[in-house]
Amino acid sequence: MRLVLMGGSLRAGSFNGRLLGHLASELALRGHETTGYSGAQLRFPLFEDGLAPSAELVALHAALGAAQGLVIVSPEYNAGIPGHLKNAVDWLSTMRPSPWSGLPVLLCAASPGAFGGARGLGAWRVTLANMGAIVAPEGLTVPHADQQLDEKGAPTEARTAANLGRNLDAFLALAARLR
Ligand SMILES: Cc1cc2nc3c(=O)[nH]c(=O)nc-3n(C[C@H](O)[C@H](O)[C@H](O)COP(=O)(O)O)c2cc1C
Repeated sequence: MRLVLMGGSLRAGSFNGRLLGHLASELALRGHETTGYSGAQLRFPLFEDGLAPSAELVALHAALGAAQGLVIVSPEYNAGIPGHLKNAVDWLSTMRPSPWSGLPVLLCAASPGAFGGARGLGAWRVTLANMGAIVAPEGLTVPHADQQLDEKGAPTEARTAANLGRNLDAFLALAARLR
């Protein structure tokens, strides 16, 4: 399958960016074609009515339109979606055809906190449902990511590592059924 991954913060050494890299490797190992967009690559001008989307946004729109699924790896900012990612999503929601309608999405998050960014994923669910995306029932969270992600972005805690494989496989099965 052709899959897009989007996420990470604008921070050098972003845990979510690191986790995104590991997820892309795991998907490639399973034989899938992946294109990843880091936080910096998702830093677009603030959406403004009447402003034309940049060439980078047009390319991202085309990549999502051709994808069978999307993996979002999002930091949690104040129990919500970080501004740069929400801005990118808002831009993409104005572009036609809608890349969101019927798009299978896996939600992932990493945080140094004890909840692993789970509350932010709740905010993502509301936004994605509004746009008609189909979010996998289970998401992946990595708590204590400052201690529990290795330098390549793999979770070091056994239960989280097992969850990662299980969530990826369940998401791939969902995406295969839908697209
Ligand atoms: C403005 C701001 C708000 C934050 N709010 C939360 C929060 O609600 N929950 C949480 O677990 N971490 C929160 N954090 C901490 C982030 O999880 C932490 O900075 C994390 O490293 C961000 O992801 P990154 O490593 O990919 O940059 C917040 C950080 C910032 C800068």
